[in-house]
Amino acid sequence: MEFQNAHILSAQQLNTEDIEKILRIAVELEPIAQKKLTSDLLRNKVLAALFYEPSTRTRLSFETAMNRLGGRVISVVGMDNSSLKKGETLSDTARVISSYADVIAMRHPDAGSLTEFSRGASVPLLNAGDGVNEHPTQALTDIFTIEKEQGRINGLTIAMVGDLKYGRTVHSLSYLLSRFSVKLIFVSPPELKMPDTVTAHLREKGVYFDETQNLEEAIRKSDVLYMTRIQKERFATEAEYRRHHGVYVLTKGLIERCNQHILILHPLPRYGEISSEIDELAGAAYFRQVENAVAVRMALLYLLLGDGDND
Ligand code: NCD
Repeated sequence: MEFQNAHILSAQQLNTEDIEKILRIAVELEPIAQKKLTSDLLRNKVLAALFYEPSTRTRLSFETAMNRLGGRVISVVGMDNSSLKKGETLSDTARVISSYADVIAMRHPDAGSLTEFSRGASVPLLNAGDGVNEHPTQALTDIFTIEKEQGRINGLTIAMVGDLKYGRTVHSLSYLLSRFSVKLIFVSPPELKMPDTVTAHLREKGVYFDETQNLEEAIRKSDVLYMTRIQKERFATEAEYRRHHGVYVLTKGLIERCNQHILILHPLPRYGEISSEIDELAGAAYFRQVENAVAVRMALLYLLLGDGDND
């Protein structure tokens, strides 16, 4: 795809070449993300970070990425602090913010909100999570981490565990991985299975996937274990959520018994699904995954705002 001035709303927009380009630039920008070098690649550019839903990592890593590339950041945090609360349409808000900023990263509780917003946006828009739908920049961070830790993506078996229905990161991750030669194992309670839209896409692309409730077996068969939080905020009732919370808990004993070499990822925040005793294992990569997000978001901001001479 042509990155300059594009909106990135879905992981489905990115083909293998696009993904590899983003990862390649992320590697180049890593010394800046790791504070070893300073940069003013995006000097005088302004990022608007619009977060209408809670966030720690995603917002701060976008802001860090922009700041460390020499750019500036303006932000809105929370629906209550925005004119959307007064009933302004998404597309009007987009038009207004496009006149202030050069690029927008946005999170919103409604699936589809980003598409509506993009109609009014005249500067590039990055989806930082739209409800239960997608979270493409997190998924790019996830595969960047897999490639860094394992040296490859092709040939791997990757298990995704937990709330596959409401977890937007696993939707985007599945779309990205469908561009590679991988095997996927989806581990969830039947009520929280991967949505049909995602599995239909995988079938169409000829990606092997298995659906199971058995975590132990998945750990034995996989190279990568991607854990997720049960998405409490998406359930209609607290009781319904409580039925699922704690259904998959990763312990050190389980990893040692089933597969000591497995790489363990989690988009975070975790809420009980990975016990802290796991943090010391060599394969526990979720805090390294957090660090990687800055370089990946730098690469995206650079590609969307750069001079187009990126090859
Ligand atoms: C995820 C999200 O917001 O979808 N977090 C993140 O961006 N790192 C996962 C989650 O909230 O469970």
